[in-house]
Amino acid sequence: MEILLSECYGFCGGVKRAVESAFQTAQTYDDVKILGELVHNAQVNEDLREKGVELIDEAHLPENATVITRSHGTTKALKEELSAKGNRVVDTTCPFVSRIYTIVEENNAKGIPVVIVGDKDHPEVKGIASYGDEVYIVADADEADALPLSEKDQIALVSQTTNPNKLVDSVEERLKGVFTGEILRYNTICKATNDRQDACRMLATHVDCMLVIGGKNSANTKKLVKIASEHCDNVYHIQTINQLDLRPFKKFNKIGITAGASTPDSVIKEAVSRMDNMNRDEMNNEMMEAIENS
Ligand code: F3S
Repeated sequence: MEILLSECYGFCGGVKRAVESAFQTAQTYDDVKILGELVHNAQVNEDLREKGVELIDEAHLPENATVITRSHGTTKALKEELSAKGNRVVDTTCPFVSRIYTIVEENNAKGIPVVIVGDKDHPEVKGIASYGDEVYIVADADEADALPLSEKDQIALVSQTTNPNKLVDSVEERLKGVFTGEILRYNTICKATNDRQDACRMLATHVDCMLVIGGKNSANTKKLVKIASEHCDNVYHIQTINQLDLRPFKKFNKIGITAGASTPDSVIKEAVSRMDNMNRDEMNNEMMEAIENS
């Protein structure tokens, strides 16, 4: 059995930066809270808890504490409320996400509405939308049909950073059909996401089984699972290798491994090493059988 690791996987620059900043903050200050999960990875969040960082939610904002906000963003109103309550806000929003805040603000300031392609319930999209007063969130091309934009000369089009390009292409195509003005499309899908998706696609076409490692609520990991499933019949989304019974995997010839942008190296290394060990045990068994039968 061959075990192949994707050419691009795991922690992206934005998550790495957020995690380093959070651990640094935990070391520097007392009474540190984190507003929601820093990244969608149980291991990272558990490690922070062990350092004394308390997980809080939006309904229970503290006063005069140090509050770390998430890498995929937080709404403008929430950050203002935290500051108003005397908190020190350590904002770990990824620069690729905050760039979208600026695009929304600048276009709305010129009277140009902004269409956001994304999941309206995802914190990143809620954060992006909070920076504008005329924004429309669409999940797909079908939702674009109903937008009340016919009076406008221009609209801006941005996307949640983790979307596949072809989803935004399809929304733009549909908008061209229903909107006669100019569409200002901004490329807001981050390169790390693109690279991981391309590498996942390529690997999935060459293996008979794919393991995608990452949080069950991680948007970018779920998209890797979707892409892998389009090219491979046996795709498993796992959070760690420990939750997997490896015996059924012996039947595969080539197993591909990739991981979402919030999956730490240690979790990926463990998965590769356990698959390798299983492979070695299997080869040893085959050799022993061959010796015994000779
Ligand atoms: Fe930032 Fe892209 Fe990572 S938006 S948090 S570099 S997946």
